[in-house]
Amino acid sequence: MPSNPEPFWRETVSLPTFPKLQQDLETDAVVVGGGITGITAAYLLAKEGVKVVLLEADVLLNGTTGHTTAKVTAQHDLIYDELLQHIGEEKTKKYYEANDQALSFIREYAGGISCDYSNQDAWIYTNENKNITKLESEYKAYVKLGIECAMEDSIPFDVPVKRAIIMKNQGQFHPLAYLADMTEKLKEMGVAIYEHTVAVDAEVLGDGAKVRTRDGFSVKAKHVLSCSHYPFYDGNGFYFTRMYAERSYVLGIKTDNPYPGGMYFSADTPSRSIRSTPMDGGDLILLGGESHKTGQGFDTKKHYEELELFGKVHLGLKETVYKWSAQDLITLDKIPYIGPVTKNKPAILAATGYRKWGMTNGTAAAMMLRDLVLERENPHQEVFCPSRFIADPSIKTFLVQNADVAGHLISGKLDFGSRKKISELREDEGALVTHQGQKAAAYKDTQGCVHLVDSTCTHLGCEVEWNSGERSWDCPCHGSRFTIDGEVMEGPADKPLEKLNPDEAQ
Ligand SMILES: Cc1cc2nc3c(=O)[nH]c(=O)nc-3n(C[C@H](O)[C@H](O)[C@H](O)COP(=O)(O)OP(=O)(O)OC[C@H]3O[C@@H](n4cnc5c(N)ncnc54)[C@H](O)[C@@H]3O)c2cc1C
Ligand code: FES
Repeated sequence: MPSNPEPFWRETVSLPTFPKLQQDLETDAVVVGGGITGITAAYLLAKEGVKVVLLEADVLLNGTTGHTTAKVTAQHDLIYDELLQHIGEEKTKKYYEANDQALSFIREYAGGISCDYSNQDAWIYTNENKNITKLESEYKAYVKLGIECAMEDSIPFDVPVKRAIIMKNQGQFHPLAYLADMTEKLKEMGVAIYEHTVAVDAEVLGDGAKVRTRDGFSVKAKHVLSCSHYPFYDGNGFYFTRMYAERSYVLGIKTDNPYPGGMYFSADTPSRSIRSTPMDGGDLILLGGESHKTGQGFDTKKHYEELELFGKVHLGLKETVYKWSAQDLITLDKIPYIGPVTKNKPAILAATGYRKWGMTNGTAAAMMLRDLVLERENPHQEVFCPSRFIADPSIKTFLVQNADVAGHLISGKLDFGSRKKISELREDEGALVTHQGQKAAAYKDTQGCVHLVDSTCTHLGCEVEWNSGERSWDCPCHGSRFTIDGEVMEGPADKPLEKLNPDEAQ
């Protein structure tokens, strides 16, 4: 399968490799997922003397953490004014504090290692009249919550701006250099790490739990921590009805203009994210944006072109050196789900739904998971608990998201519109085709070989869409992704798309 475009982070750090799990094990805590949440949780637990096994389906740090832009900030787009209105001041303060403490943890850890950490102000700006009031309300929320902040009417770029608010003294880093160092510490502390080991199920056993792997092995533990981005085990928590996946795109660019410092995010549509990172004695500027629900974008190459256009017009883009994309999960009320996967399964914990702010949210999650395992009080747990009461605005989001899914389920089945024939595919083109009277998903590779799979998502039966940028089949309903040969790249689906034979009569 053609690989994703490599992000800057993976090319500039070397990571150790680990074996596949090939035996049954028993331990104190089994962590599933080697991204920022899993690695940080394993580190915090091992430091407390807990015996930890970490299972990773692919290789460490190749998930969303390997494709992030790694702003380390409690400024999460516009959120504090909304949270104040919906969950009140006390809980909103806890959301902020959890993320601020995560920032402090990262800053302190990063201070002792080499990972390009620097303190930066985080800016959010708008050029749209309708968003000015929103920014001003957000600014008032910062003041109410005691957040160090400022308000401006420009940003230090040639970008038209009517209002900007600044959260002072946030940070940025090289996420993989940071987590590679933590991985070395895991090895030193005796954490058993296994790569290419897919967890397929979990079950409660007495007062503990057990994880089963695709290869037929199991790990018994007092606690199972699902840090697999989309929870690998749902436990009837129906997470797919309570979260949706959104993709975003990132360019690593060189510009003619000196970088003024700071991290920027626009509150307008389409949103833009700007930060810099050191590269070869200069700056590589990371320009992100073009978010859309997974499986519902237009031709994905166009998203990169839009970002390049913005870079040329506003930032003096000279050369695009990197491009990549990834997705993150968004919960109904915008607050992550961190805690027991369901109320009645306290031995199986989950952490997910960071809304593209997982550097601090993922670190805060690791701290909460550690405290749950150690049965310690954590002041932030109640705000993030997955079984929290769903407030009014999230019921509205629930209805909108699920109506959207229902729309895709119905239209996917009813769409008998004109479709390409396999013989009409150009090289390196993917499309939905008709094969033996059924909709199917076909990709013709650069050697002329056709890869044909059933286009019905194995999760709940929506029809997948072609993602030309990453050469994958993406499901518009809950964000599952599949390779050109149907293998699962991202859940909630856990079974591959059925392979079809392109040589059979069409
Ligand atoms: C384009 C983009 C830019 C972003 N920029 C920022 C930013 O500037 N600042 C910020 O704070 N956040 C940002 N985020 C969000 C942040 O990157 C994510 O929230 C965070 O990395 C998620 O971490 P994670 O550990 O939950 O998941 P991941 O990093 O995806 O790790 C999960 C791991 O679990 C493994 N896994 C999955 N299923 C199984 C299984 N069944 N068995 C075993 N292993 C399994 C996966 O292979 C993966 O390695 C951004 C996100 C995107 C998409
Ligand atoms: S991800 Fe749910 S139907 Fe495809």
